[in-house]
Amino acid sequence: MIRRLSKEETIPMSLLLLADPSERLVLQYLKRGQCYVMEEEGVIIGVYVLLATRPDTVEIVNVAVEPDYQGKGLGKQLVIHAIDTARQQGWHTIEIGTGNSGVVQLALYQKCGFRITSIDRDFFLRHYEEPIMENGIQVVDMIRLSMDL
Ligand SMILES: CC(C)(COP(=O)(O)OP(=O)(O)OC[C@H]1O[C@@H](n2cnc3c(N)ncnc32)[C@H](O)[C@@H]1OP(=O)(O)O)[C@@H](O)C(=O)NCCC(=O)NCCS
Repeated sequence: MIRRLSKEETIPMSLLLLADPSERLVLQYLKRGQCYVMEEEGVIIGVYVLLATRPDTVEIVNVAVEPDYQGKGLGKQLVIHAIDTARQQGWHTIEIGTGNSGVVQLALYQKCGFRITSIDRDFFLRHYEEPIMENGIQVVDMIRLSMDL
């Protein structure tokens, strides 16, 4: 089951940090964003955050699945749910970004219908103090993808 997390509930921070290592940035966009969680028997195993960025545009700024549950199609369910939610809310465009090293993410987002729009070079060098590694590649550039709803 996927449902909106209410403001009073505890934030699934360890899950959110899987997708974004900066707690400071996570807390910043959670203030303005909508957090949705996937639960199995009352335990949160997945999360995504939708954030309004520009007029008519919303972005999936975080999506993550608990490591034991990855590779079973749950990430795809979360991304599809985010797209449906954005469409129901009347947004015209949905965006998502991933690091240059995110091969699974790039495959997943394109399978869900996103197309690459631009590359924000050095994004991770500008916004994160510590170097980030993924799949043996340093994360430096942000690949931005979008979809018309
Ligand atoms: C990214 C993440 C959310 C994906 O969730 P998941 O549940 O593991 O993904 P899924 O099982 O839904 O698989 C997604 C798709 O990617 C595909 N995929 C996985 N590895 C792949 C590869 N190496 N090449 C091509 N496709 C690949 C899968 O086949 C699947 O597509 P399918 O359903 O058509 O078979 C999850 O791995 C995660 O939480 N990672 C850590 C946090 C993170 O990096 N978040 C994204 C920040 S940009």
